[in-house]
Amino acid sequence: MRLDKLLAHSGYGTRKEVKSYIRHGLVSVNGKIVKKDDYHVDQKNDIIIIDDEIVKYEEFVYYMLNKPAGFVSASTDAHYPTVVELIDDYYRDDLFPIGRLDIDTEGLLILSNDGQLAHQLLSPKNHCPKIYYAQVKGIVDENDIQLFLQGIKLEDFTCLSSILNILKVANGMSEVTVEIYEGKFHQVKRMFLAIGKEVLYLKRIQMNDLKLDKNLNIGEYRRLSDEELNRLKNKSVIQ
Ligand code: URA
Repeated sequence: MRLDKLLAHSGYGTRKEVKSYIRHGLVSVNGKIVKKDDYHVDQKNDIIIIDDEIVKYEEFVYYMLNKPAGFVSASTDAHYPTVVELIDDYYRDDLFPIGRLDIDTEGLLILSNDGQLAHQLLSPKNHCPKIYYAQVKGIVDENDIQLFLQGIKLEDFTCLSSILNILKVANGMSEVTVEIYEGKFHQVKRMFLAIGKEVLYLKRIQMNDLKLDKNLNIGEYRRLSDEELNRLKNKSVIQ
């Protein structure tokens, strides 16, 4: 990789700024000052120092976002702001959301540049478990729990057996959690519609074994720890 690209992608400035740092002799590679901005470095093995600081280049990055409503789960969009625009400490252009939440859905969304992890989590064969918290118009009851367990039939497919858990029922409204193993378009909303109920608010709270950090406010994000990344990667239930 070119030295100026690596520095810009690691957050040390714009391409123009880092070229200037290089030309002014502020950057060394393996102990030698390099003044050519198109100098090629081995980003895995070379030791690059800028202004006395060792440059840490990460090939893959993983963010946990508490997605707000009003943002589309995409890298670019002609009409709406995207979740990628919320990540303002990332300096490359290869970040994407792993999976989609509807524009009005909130909660746990992973953003990364790791295509292999995305494939693992999104492949329909892997049945990655996802847990949602929902506020539903209507009284959700024991019968609905059984219907979800049996597998809700939608127009185009039948959902796998899913776990519906009632948290609270009051004033004609229900608060529930639901665990599903596919990621069809509007799946949770359509499952409730199929039993005659309407989802008024939806938030994803877990994906595989990774829970949304309760300390992240809506719209906030942070990097995943190694331990969280393993939790996200390791558990894909084959049913
Ligand atoms: N199910 C839905 O209906 N919407 C989402 O955003 C996610 C799951």
